[in-house]
Parts: sequence; structure tokens; C-alpha cells
Amino acid sequence: MTRLLIPKELDQYAERYTSPESKPLAGLNRETHMKVPMSQMLSGHIQGALLQMISHMLRPAQVLEIGTYTGYSAICLAQGLQKGGHLHTIDINEELEDLCFRYFCEAGLEHSITQHIGKAAEVIPTLSVAFDLVFIDADKQNYGLYYDLVIDKVPLGGIIIADNVLFEGEVVLPEEQRSKNGRAMHAFNEKIMNDPRVEQVLLPLRDGLLIMRKIAS
Ligand SMILES: C[S@@+](CC[C@H](N)C(=O)[O-])C[C@H]1O[C@@H](n2cnc3c(N)ncnc32)[C@H](O)[C@@H]1O
Repeated sequence: MTRLLIPKELDQYAERYTSPESKPLAGLNRETHMKVPMSQMLSGHIQGALLQMISHMLRPAQVLEIGTYTGYSAICLAQGLQKGGHLHTIDINEELEDLCFRYFCEAGLEHSITQHIGKAAEVIPTLSVAFDLVFIDADKQNYGLYYDLVIDKVPLGGIIIADNVLFEGEVVLPEEQRSKNGRAMHAFNEKIMNDPRVEQVLLPLRDGLLIMRKIAS
């Protein structure tokens, strides 16, 4: 899901003028592209740097990530955790658990990150934690459900970020030309726009990031 929304040259320029990836992130990026199917799912350098920047600005005590994949965005989001803070990340796929853990160790984050294996819709209700920062990046059909499951766990001022909200540009196609996921993403964007509990900005970065801030209960 990484069809670029800007010309390749501009994307490369933005990468060049963004702080370089840390050694563990660069290694994980490389290994994922060499060995893991669907490597386009990894957040990547610029988006990862943005997630890391947001986490540093918030200094969250607790972070929830829905959709771990190989752990790239988890490492980025965990960078800004306050002392003693923790990140919970959920993925349905158990096959990548060991690879993630290896890189969490390399990044020195093995005690700050808990991996949950299972369906996010079943795991989220078991987490009795208030999350200052949530990153939704799993199956597109369920974004609305994940939002409903987390919104009451987010305190006022907390941030929820959803990835792929432009869905390769499909959201602006006529309804009948959108795929099932493109329709789901458009429905999610509409849902958020009509929810007075959050204010939001849709950033046309990579595949589209919707950043929401909780402003009312
Ligand atoms: C786009 S990838 C996540 C990428 C990762 N956040 C990153 O930026 O590096 C989506 C992940 O969601 C997981 N996933 C799909 N359906 C899920 C579900 N129902 N519950 C939990 N995880 C799910 C997939 O196994 C996949 O690893």
C-alpha cells in the first residue's frame, strides 16, 4: 500500500532531508524487504520518523498499536515513551513474533513493548489501560470498530492515528470504482469527520495518515 502520492524524486528528497533511520530500524527495514511477504506494509523511513516525532512530542505513558507486522512502527512509537512507559502492539499473525522480538531487543525496547497475538477486536477489550497514543494500522474493514473500541480508553488530549486513509487514492474515485477496502476507508473518514469527540487532520503523507485528537468525551 505504498503507491506514492507525490513524485518519486520528491519522496527521495524528503527522505534525504529527514533524519536517518537508526541502525535497528534500517536493519529491520532491509530484512523485511528481503525476507517477508507484503513488505510494502512496513511504515518506512519518513512515516516512521513522523510517528517517532509525534511520540517524542507527546511523551506517552501508554501506547497501543493495532497491526504490528514486523515491528517497525512499534519501535518508532516506543521511542518517545516516558520513563516506565509501555507500548502494547497487536497482530493476528504469530509468524513474525520472533522477528519483531529480535529487533525490539536490538533497539533496547524488549521491556517496553508487549506483543499480543490475536484478533485485535478480541484483544483490545482485554487491555484495561488508558492510552495516550493509538496507531491503527491493521485490516481496513475494521478501522471503525477499532476506533469504537479504543475511544473510551483514550483520555482528553490523547491522539489516535490511522494509516492508509487515502487507500492509494481510491477514496476520491466514484463509489462503484472503489475496492472493498477503499470503501471502508472512505466510510471511516466520514465517521471521524462526523464525530464531535475528536478534531482531526488528514495528512496526504504516503498512503494518508489521519491524526485525531480527543477533545470531548
Ligand atoms: C499494514 S501491516 C502493519 C504495519 C506496521 N504497523 C508497520 O508500520 O510496520 C497490517 C498488519 O495487521 C495485521 N492484521 C490484519 N488483520 C488483523 C486483525 N484482525 N487483528 C490484528 N492484526 C491484524 C496483519 O497481520 C499485518 O501484520
